Amino acid sequence: MMLLIVMPLLFCSILAVEAGNFYQDFDISWGDNRGKILNNGELLTLSLDRTSGSGFQSKNEYMYGKIDMQIKLVPGNSAGTVTAYYLSSEGPTWDEIDFEFLGNLSGDPYTIHTNVYTQGKGDREQQFHLWFDPASDFHTYSILWNPQRIIFYVDGTPIREFKNMESIGIPFPKTQPMRIYSSLWNADDWATRGGLVKTDWSNAPFTASYRNFDAKTSCVWSAGKSSCGSSDSNSKDRAWLTEDLDATSQERLRWVQRNFMIYDYCTDSNRFPQGFPRECNVATKL
Ligand SMILES: *[C@@H]1O[C@H](CO)[C@@H](O)[C@H](O)[C@H]1NC(C)=O
Repeated sequence: MMLLIVMPLLFCSILAVEAGNFYQDFDISWGDNRGKILNNGELLTLSLDRTSGSGFQSKNEYMYGKIDMQIKLVPGNSAGTVTAYYLSSEGPTWDEIDFEFLGNLSGDPYTIHTNVYTQGKGDREQQFHLWFDPASDFHTYSILWNPQRIIFYVDGTPIREFKNMESIGIPFPKTQPMRIYSSLWNADDWATRGGLVKTDWSNAPFTASYRNFDAKTSCVWSAGKSSCGSSDSNSKDRAWLTEDLDATSQERLRWVQRNFMIYDYCTDSNRFPQGFPRECNVATKL
């Protein structure tokens, strides 16, 4: 009797660990049963209906990382919905690295909204359209966070870089460990065409899907210590800790910024009549 129960459980958990497992790495944090972990932990779905959205968060906290997640956004008429995927620390002077996907009417493009908060201060939005339909299939969204820079990637293409500019007095996230969060909610007061297009609840429930989470070489923070110690045997897998954009990647970044960037706070003069934030004057944009 014992064997019959234990054997299949062991077998499942071994298989699942290799595939990257949502049971192991995440907790569904809100939304009752609207967030679900499926297929032995290989798939996670969030859903949104008129009553509530849903969300999940990582069990681990990270202090630097290279974190990949494949996401398939809400298909069809997703206007009014927002899927957020981000890293954040806690407390009043938190750090945060944000992807937010703003839904749209069928056939109209999603907007990818990005932001970086350091010590509780954000206001650093850049927005993009994409060169593919992010709701028809899974695509990989990555955050590289090392001591020198933060880079947002989509399918391996860098779309934004936020450099460490402490030398000119801009705080950089380096003392507060961050957790991974994601949520799907209704934001039809602002999300689509600035709130003009409302959520069509006859399409509910809305569902976003996640798979192939990978943070295995990231630095897990636990009891005040990082798993990326100096005597670490995995250090060869941690090239990302000093990763910079090479010439090819810089060319890709320029291509995205030239063709797909639809908003950049560093060029919004109406918003900053007293002058742009100081980091805008540095060569953060290429
Ligand atoms: C929705 O589509 C319109 C029309 O193409 C576009 O202007 C807008 O940026 C899209 N995204 C959002 C979130 O409104």
